[in-house]
Amino acid sequence: MMKGSFPLGEFQGRKTPFYFYDIPLLERTLDAVRSAVRDRPLWQVHYAVKANANPGILRRIAAAGLGADCVSGGEIRMALEAGFAPESIVYAGVGKSDWEIELALEAGIARFNVESTAELQVIEEIAARMGRVAPVCLRVNPDIGAHTHAHITTGLAENKFGIFHEMLPEAVRMALACPHVRFCGLHFHIGSQVLDMADFVALCNRINDLTARFERLDLPVGDLNVGGGLGINYEHPNHLPIADFAAYFAVFKRHLHLRAGQALHFELGRSLVGPCGSLICRVLYVKQGATRQFAVVDASMTELIRPALYHAYHRIENLSSDLPERLYDVVGPVCESSDVFAKGVSLDECRRGDLLAIRSAGAYGESMASCYNGRPLPGSFLYGETGD
Ligand code: LLP
Repeated sequence: MMKGSFPLGEFQGRKTPFYFYDIPLLERTLDAVRSAVRDRPLWQVHYAVKANANPGILRRIAAAGLGADCVSGGEIRMALEAGFAPESIVYAGVGKSDWEIELALEAGIARFNVESTAELQVIEEIAARMGRVAPVCLRVNPDIGAHTHAHITTGLAENKFGIFHEMLPEAVRMALACPHVRFCGLHFHIGSQVLDMADFVALCNRINDLTARFERLDLPVGDLNVGGGLGINYEHPNHLPIADFAAYFAVFKRHLHLRAGQALHFELGRSLVGPCGSLICRVLYVKQGATRQFAVVDASMTELIRPALYHAYHRIENLSSDLPERLYDVVGPVCESSDVFAKGVSLDECRRGDLLAIRSAGAYGESMASCYNGRPLPGSFLYGETGD
């Protein structure tokens, strides 16, 4: 949404900060995903709920026919409430508690993405006690370094996620021997905010090698789940508001050698919801420091922690001003030096009361919000919602 298109009239009387969600953009994004996989009936896209669990957003994505990717019992509950079918839910996480495993078995979810043989054993025991059979994929640590921030790579040997690929055959044999576990396939995820398609090509190659190795060992591979990670363009949210799904899925069409009848699952989060969200806040004070000019706003790291945690860039626009640009450090009120949204950014001159949009905040904004410093959780405005 271009700066001039934000519905400022409808912002009046709303308490800032709040999350603004452009629902028509979300719908266009979901259409783009659906049309990119329309020719592949065995491909299923799951939405990574961790990116944004706002009930209105979840409902829209469930209604569009996507599955859900959850990482906790709480997310499974939210997904079910929003209308995701249990058989479309996959569940990953290195530390699943017993109550979460019970809840997932009770709900009848599609897959447990299991991250260790210790977890496999516990799932077997709980499923046996409940008289159920748990559908299980084993999460493989593919040892591939995605070109992204160190805090959000997950597929390196040193990361806590998944089972190291050399230990995998043993883990599969163990799963096959568990009477209350049904071995369904392998799960991968290399990291997040990945823009270099070569990283996904490397993942395909690793999976192809693994498949060949499994066939030599006479082990089944089952279905494949390649996780998520497709990045978005934080620099140009106006010109490139929809991630390049065609290029992303083309990588898997071209490089992954699927066997007949083999299903392929994806778990996309950021690329589905990131661009449609903005954090709207107000300028409280313009403050001249010793060397820098600050725009102190009423939003902080408690509503969007990405800049503080990953030094992430989010484009900022002054929606209320058309004055000549000046340089600002945009900072929040929280008592942490890292509570800074951007340093030395050029904004149309700011005055007290101006509304700023911090763009591309739809993913890992609201879902990572906290109440630090006694700050209340902000509201959200789903703009353009038809209410059906
Ligand atoms: N599947 C698995 C197993 C994951 O761990 C993740 C994200 C996803 C799918 C979805 O990834 P996406 O498509 O959204 O990249 N808070 C960080 C991102 C953490 C991502 C964690 N895992 C950020 O704000 O950048």
